[in-house]
Amino acid sequence: MTYSPMTATSGQATQGTVAASARNLTKTYGQGDAEVHALRGTDLDLPRGRFIAIMGPSGSGKSTLMHCLAGLDQPSGGTVTVAGTDLGSLDDDALTVFRREHIGFVFQSFNLLPMLTAGENVMLPLELGGRRVDDAARERADMLADILGVAGRLGHRPAELSGGQQQRVAIARALITQPDLLFADEPTGNLDSTTSAEVLDHLRRSARELGQTVVMVTHERDAAAYADYVVTMQDGRIV
Ligand SMILES: Nc1ncnc2c1ncn2[C@@H]1O[C@H](COP(=O)(O)OP(=O)(O)OP(=O)(O)O)[C@@H](O)[C@H]1O
Ligand SMILES: [Mg+2]
Repeated sequence: MTYSPMTATSGQATQGTVAASARNLTKTYGQGDAEVHALRGTDLDLPRGRFIAIMGPSGSGKSTLMHCLAGLDQPSGGTVTVAGTDLGSLDDDALTVFRREHIGFVFQSFNLLPMLTAGENVMLPLELGGRRVDDAARERADMLADILGVAGRLGHRPAELSGGQQQRVAIARALITQPDLLFADEPTGNLDSTTSAEVLDHLRRSARELGQTVVMVTHERDAAAYADYVVTMQDGRIV
C-alpha cells in the first residue's frame, strides 16, 4: 500500500506510464522573517490511470503541491511535467488552455461561482472550453449529479447549499470534462460516511475504468484505503 514515488516508474518504465511528475519542486511564500518553505525539493511521479492519495499533517505542503502540479500556482523552483509537457514552458494563455484540456481540480474551499446555480457551475468548464453542451454532456451532468446526490439542488446557488452539497457540486464540476488528471483536495472532508463512500468509489472507478489519474489529499485513513497508492508528506517533502 505504501508507495515509493521514485521507484514506481524506474527501470523499464516509459514516459507513457507517467501522467505527471515533479522534480526538485520548491515553493517559498513570503520574505525575510515571514518566509515559509512550503515545498522543499519534492520529487514525485504520478502513474497514469491510478488513484493516489496524499496524506500528511496540516501545513506539510499537500495543497501547495497539488496547486503546483495542476498549474494553478507557480513553483519557486523545479519542474512539473504533465502529459509530457513542462508546465514552466507555457505562457499564461497556453497554460489556461492546457489546464482546461487535461486537468480537473476540486478545491479544499470548493470555489464555486456564487452568481451561478449549482447546475451552471457544473457545466461551466465545458462552456469555458468552448465545448458543445449537447445531450451527451447533459446526460453526463445528470449522471454525476445522481451519483453525488445533488440532482435536486442543481437550480440553487451555492449560498443556498450545505457545505457537503457545495463540495459535491465542485466534484461534479471537476469531473464533467473527464480530465486525464483529476486533483481533489480533501473531497470527502464535509461529507457523511455514505456519500463519502460513493464519492470515493466513483473516484476509484474513474481511475480503473476510464483510465483517469486521480490524486486526492485526505486526512482520513478510511478514504486513503480506496487509493492504489498512498504518498505521505512532511515538512514540504515526500517521506
Ligand atoms: N498563500 C500563502 N502565503 C503564505 N504562506 C502560505 C500560503 N499558502 C500556504 N502557505 C503556508 O505553506 C505551508 C503549506 O501549506 P499547505 O496549504 O500546502 O498545507 P496543507 O498540507 O495543505 O495543510 P492542510 O492539511 O491544513 O490543508 C503552510 O505553512 C502554510 O501556512
Ligand atoms: Mg491543504
